[in-house]
Amino acid sequence: MKFFIDTANMEEIKEAHELGILSGVTTNPSLVAKEKNISFHDRLREIANLVPGSVSGEVIALDAEGMIREGKELAAIAPNITVKIPMTPDGMKAVAVLSKEGIKTNVTLIFSANQALLAARAGATYVSPFLGRLDDIGTNGLDLISTIAEIFAIHGIETEIIAASIRHPQHVTDAALRGAHIATVPFKVINQLFSHPLTDKGIEAFLADWKGRE
Ligand code: E4P
Repeated sequence: MKFFIDTANMEEIKEAHELGILSGVTTNPSLVAKEKNISFHDRLREIANLVPGSVSGEVIALDAEGMIREGKELAAIAPNITVKIPMTPDGMKAVAVLSKEGIKTNVTLIFSANQALLAARAGATYVSPFLGRLDDIGTNGLDLISTIAEIFAIHGIETEIIAASIRHPQHVTDAALRGAHIATVPFKVINQLFSHPLTDKGIEAFLADWKGRE
């Protein structure tokens, strides 16, 4: 499983990129809105220039025509831009048109296996099931990842599964075990993935022993 970072914040993206673990970036309108006084297109360009992998930018229009127009504008920003489109009938019309033109798409707000299958058949490059938001309503988000992974494997579907709405490190481990190709992870959780008290204790002990060797 690969790591994307789920943020529009440049400092976070730079730091995660330097860690050498990053294969892409996802943004959404709420994450972009948190960044004050920025141009959306300029920020996407900046991210896409720094991170060589897929960089998702989401359309705002709700009608197919508007999504296609916005999607083409976003895709023109850089060759590694992926157009993020919500799971609606109009969204799938837009995915069908954009994918035929060779533009990569990420279908977002996936909450059922049927939605994932529809997105894949419309030509989506990625589907993004939202784990945390399903957990919030008492449904097991991880079971959805397993079901989608199984259906895609049975039918030889190449659309990649991005485990999204990740809230804690256990989600990351479980998403990897359940067959997600990618997890898009908030910066805070990326940092949490690194820490283990025994690692800190071990470093302390090694240094203490080193200092006391003479
Ligand atoms: C995915 O692409 C979304 O940007 C994101 O993971 C949503 O997460 P949230 O439920 O924490 O807002």
